[in-house]
Formats: sequence, C-alpha cells, structure tokens
Amino acid sequence: MTEASEHAFSTEVQPADDPGALGQAVELLGQGQLVALPTETVYGLAADARSPGAVARIFEAKGRPAGNPLIVHIDSVEMADGCVAAWPSAAAQLAGAFWPGPLSLVLPKADSIPDIVTAGGTTVAVRCPAHPVFSAVLAKCGFPLAAPSANRSNRVSPTRAEHVVDQLGGRIPLVLDGGACDLGIESTVLDLTGDTPTLLRPGMISLGQLQAVLGPVATAKPPAAAEPLKSPGQLQQHYSPRAKLILVEGDLDAALGQADVTAHVIARTAAPAAWPSERWHRLPDAAAGFARELYDTLHRCDRLGAETILVQPLPDGDEWDALRNRLNRAAGA
Ligand code: TXA
Ligand code: MG
Repeated sequence: MTEASEHAFSTEVQPADDPGALGQAVELLGQGQLVALPTETVYGLAADARSPGAVARIFEAKGRPAGNPLIVHIDSVEMADGCVAAWPSAAAQLAGAFWPGPLSLVLPKADSIPDIVTAGGTTVAVRCPAHPVFSAVLAKCGFPLAAPSANRSNRVSPTRAEHVVDQLGGRIPLVLDGGACDLGIESTVLDLTGDTPTLLRPGMISLGQLQAVLGPVATAKPPAAAEPLKSPGQLQQHYSPRAKLILVEGDLDAALGQADVTAHVIARTAAPAAWPSERWHRLPDAAAGFARELYDTLHRCDRLGAETILVQPLPDGDEWDALRNRLNRAAGA
C-alpha cells in the first residue's frame, strides 16, 4: 500500500453544528473521501463502509496495518442487519440495553461488507454511536460508515478536533469539530461469534453491566505470540503517548521522592508544594471524569514535550478496568 502524502490535503476544521459543514461531510463521504467526526467515545475517521477504495484510504491515512479490522458504525438495528449475516438474541438484547452507545458487537459479516473492512476475516464489529453529529451524518448518508479512532496507528486516540489535526492534518480533507468527547475512551468490544460472549476490549460499559444482561461473559486472554489476534487492540504498546509512561506501584509520594521534577505526573490528588504545577495534571477522582480527561492530558503532555509521565495507581473496582487496560498498554506493561 502506498503511503499517503502528508500534504495531499489542506485539512479544513468546521464547526459540527454548521449545516453547511455537515452537508460537506456527507458529500465527501459519498465521494469515497475521509471525514473525521466526533463520537461520544473518541473522534472517528469515517469512510463509506461499502467501498473498498474509500476504506483503503483509512488504512493509508492512519498508517494502520492491513490486519487490523475496522468497526462499522450504523444508526439503527435495521442498518446493522445489512452488515451482519446473523443477529442472535444476545445482540438484540445488548442493542436494546446499550445502543446507541459505546458497545461494539462482533458478529458474522454479511457479503455487503468488503474484506478490507474486516481485515479478511469472517466477522464484523458493528456499533451504533450516541453522538448527534455522527447520527446526523449517518442519517443523511444512509449507508454504514467504517471508522477507527482518528489517530495515526498506535498513537493516543483523539478526544478533541485539535488532536485529530495534530496527527492527521494534511492527510484528510475535513474534520467536524464537535468539541470534547463525553466518554473519552474507546468502546467496549464484545465478540458474539463463539459459544460464550467474550470481552475483547474493555470500555466504559463494564463486564458487570454486560453480565447483568447476558449472564456469563468470558474475558479474552492476551494472545500467545503465535496465535492469530482475536482483536488486534489486544496488542501491547497500543494507545501510546510519545513520553515514557510509568504506572506507579504502591505509594505515589514515595515514587515522587525518587523521581526527577522534570517528569509529568497524572494524579487524582493535589500537587505537593515541590512539584511544578505545569507538570502536575490533576484528573477527577471518579472513573467517568478520569476517562473523559485522560487522553486529552496525554496529548497535552506530548505537546509540552514530556519525556516521562508518572501515573498514580488507579483505585480497585470494575469501573476502572478499561482505564487500567489503556494505561497498561500505554506503558507497554
Ligand atoms: O469507540 C470506538 O470504538 C471508536 C469510535 C470511533 O467509534 N473506534 C475505535 O476503532 O476505537 P479502532 O479501530 O481504533 O478500534 C477498533 C478495535 C480494534 O481493537 C480492532 O482490532 C477491533 O476493534 N475489531 C474491529 N473489528 C473486529 C472484529 N471483526 N473482530 C475482532 N476485533 C475487531
Ligand atoms: Mg484506535
């Protein structure tokens, strides 16, 4: 695959609430071009999911390995039905409970979905996003949109339009700016193609919430090196900031005592007097607030040229599982 020229486009950023901009997004998507759009989780890089040529542009712009499949975004169970070859009762129950929302369901794929979307696999992930801008674009397009997070491959997902421009500026024609994403981390991915539903990627819809609807849910084990990946999102060293990220074990104060004050710190507590305030990033104490601000903080650390980021240990509890997962990956742990 040829590498997209970095300056093939002068990337326009338009306010998402401008009807003209929405029309421009729909027109570009109809022509097989890419548009970055806000979702409730992170910004997505959308293309017509029915078009192999359009989807190829996603892989090119992101520098994404061809073996990593994309999530197909739909705005109704009816549209989902056109993308999948089976709609088991578990899917119907989950869609009833959590759609629109941050849950992607892996199901057998329909012939209408080209192989490039699913990385040659026989399954497809479908998700109904809960964001008025994405919904409006889907409704006007009338076709499903393949959309990975709108970052360069292996970088931190964008939660603001400027994060998209930082990474994909010059590579895509248009970003619709809908402000900061509400949830701030990527959707929960659940595989419904096996005997037991299996959590492939934790998200803000927790294992407990899925079990309350479905009964038993398995958790995917990290793949052994020789096995094919069920979800390439399980690869370590994903979602990384440029800085070296260190998850503190045990007491934060003790770790700070050993650390250099040039390090940046992400914590839920106030900075000690000795720490430079511009290198202390205080995040909310509740999981939802922490998730909303985490990626923005990682992007800010990158912009500030951070070399090392220390992260205070997270509390126990399954509402923190997805955050633990993302931070472990960012740390390459
Ligand atoms: O919240 C989200 O899910 C965002 C927004 C834009 O919707 N999208 C997103 O897409 O995070 P992406 O491509 O960055 O992550 C999709 C994850 C990857 O880990 C991918 O391997 C997995 O979903 N995935 C996609 N299709 C799959 C399939 N058929 N089987 C297993 N895993 C799949
Ligand atoms: Mg991604």
